[in-house]
Amino acid sequence: MREKTTAHATDLLKVSYDEGVIKTRVEQLGQQLAADYADKNPVFVGILNGAFVFLSDLARACDFPLELRFLRASSYGSAAVTSGNVKLESGLAEPLTGRHVLIVEDILDSGVTLSRIRELLLAENPASLRLCAFLDKTECRLVPIEADYVGFTCEPSFFVGYGLDYAERYRNLPYIGVLKPEIYGGA
Ligand code: IMP
Ligand code: MG
Repeated sequence: MREKTTAHATDLLKVSYDEGVIKTRVEQLGQQLAADYADKNPVFVGILNGAFVFLSDLARACDFPLELRFLRASSYGSAAVTSGNVKLESGLAEPLTGRHVLIVEDILDSGVTLSRIRELLLAENPASLRLCAFLDKTECRLVPIEADYVGFTCEPSFFVGYGLDYAERYRNLPYIGVLKPEIYGGA
């Protein structure tokens, strides 16, 4: 395991999920997905930017045929609280009609982003549509939505690393930690 002494790592209050814990959980999710999707040639739709690290590991933990696509969503700007406005840029090449679709997201928080994305994708009449989120802040939900596959249910802290950012920083940390509140101006 790498020493956590880099400048940006000292901005963390603690490491919540280290590289080993993440790897083990992603492998378990891959096996769970294999049981449900191995014969379905599903389309995994990653939500950019946050999901890029998780999806890249998850896809490689899935030992069956699948396709990968990406959607860009932004709701936060550089603030650490959800704005409620979700902007979507669809990079989907062709409609998902009749396909088994799995939305892959870094973290499920208020649920606003994923609800909008789910509506958008349901309009394309997929054969099935499920959600996979690596972290799930169950206590923070503002709209009713549940993930079908969850890496870890987590506390309502602000996390960075493993794709998660604050103002576009920290995405490249290979582990997930809680950002020191003074860095984002929180209590
Ligand atoms: P929601 O619409 O409130 O569910 O927010 C989902 C999006 O907010 C995620 O895709 C993340 O980009 C961002 N987000 C929510 N919680 C965190 C966090 O703890 N750290 C970093 N980004 C977060
Ligand atoms: Mg995100």
